[in-house]
Amino acid sequence: MRALKVAGLLALGVMAGCVEKKKDGGGTTPPAPAPASAAAPAPAEETVLFGVYGSMTGAEATFGISTKQGIDLAVQELNAGGGVLGKKVKTIVYDDQGKPEEAVTTVTKLVTQDKVHVVLGEVASSRSLAAAPICQNNKVPMISPSSTNPRVTETGDYIFRVCFIDPFQGTVMAEFAAAHLKVKNVAIFRDKGSDYSMGLADYFQKAFEVRGGKIVADESYSANDQDFKSQLTAMKGKKPEAIFVPGYYTQVATIIRQARELKMEMPFLGGDGWESSKLFEIGGKALDGCYFSNHTSNDDPRPELQAFIKKYTEQFKEPPDSLAVLGYDSAMLAADAIRRAGKLDRTAMRDELAKTKGYKGVSGTVNIDEQRNATKPAVVLKIQDGKASFVTSIAP
Ligand code: PHE
Repeated sequence: MRALKVAGLLALGVMAGCVEKKKDGGGTTPPAPAPASAAAPAPAEETVLFGVYGSMTGAEATFGISTKQGIDLAVQELNAGGGVLGKKVKTIVYDDQGKPEEAVTTVTKLVTQDKVHVVLGEVASSRSLAAAPICQNNKVPMISPSSTNPRVTETGDYIFRVCFIDPFQGTVMAEFAAAHLKVKNVAIFRDKGSDYSMGLADYFQKAFEVRGGKIVADESYSANDQDFKSQLTAMKGKKPEAIFVPGYYTQVATIIRQARELKMEMPFLGGDGWESSKLFEIGGKALDGCYFSNHTSNDDPRPELQAFIKKYTEQFKEPPDSLAVLGYDSAMLAADAIRRAGKLDRTAMRDELAKTKGYKGVSGTVNIDEQRNATKPAVVLKIQDGKASFVTSIAP
């Protein structure tokens, strides 16, 4: 362990030495004259740097991996088309392991050390909330592809997202439960350590009660819990017709399996946090008859989306999920904002992002509102036989 560390440091030292040597021309040749176009003392930046942070490992690994794959596809296309303002785009990607502390560490690195022009991430709202202040304080635009908690963009005027927010998503599922499933008594099972889960549960409750529904039980779990049977048993006693679980896929799938073991046969309802191929691997047949809201559905025939699905599947040997689509859109919107600004400047880019109207993304049309959020419709999907199919789309 110790030997490895020393070796790592040495390697870094050598690399740093190389860079230094190049810079001063080894001390023998005079420095090259500045290019005529560079009016400012700082050298013109040759590469557009996209900083990416996400959960590439851990219980939410598919969130980070899918998002990164979507971003990779966007960057490949940008570079194949000559880059942005004639400059190549490069991504610098860090794994935050699904931990807010690591989100802070990695984004600090991206912003202060790597000096990226824009930060893309995170998926989970708690991690976006942890890292957004770093981008804001350093005036580096951050675009979250898929964090839906409203507080994320409230951090400040450099923080944007390309997805809808949870007051809307909660209303979508409440409306669906009341009008489509026609249920009156619903239980809520929330992750008490997740800003996303806590917020979405509250928005759902409010909207469901407005529609005449009743929350008959409100239970909670924590990130590392594996056994949910005592809370499930407590909910079962209240005879809910459906149970709303606004959590992330690993735990949601386990919760529903355990519920079926307890002979609880009602539909479970959830939000975008269910979105993962792993949901089906873990949950299997237990998920049949459950519903969740989401950003996109691969059943949607829009040609932009179908073309993306084809390209993505060819490259990654699996169809994209909504995270991949939103990752792609966040990167493409970043490039679009730089083009509109006409220069590689973080503040000019921020100003252009704020003005985004009618941007044609693969996930849909992105209109950035006053709060730097995108207003978009949501889809509701039904799970049957290991797949989620389109049921309805609900517009804001
Ligand atoms: N919206 C979730 C959050 O804010 C993240 C998420 C988005 C998860 C899309 C899956 C799909 O935490």
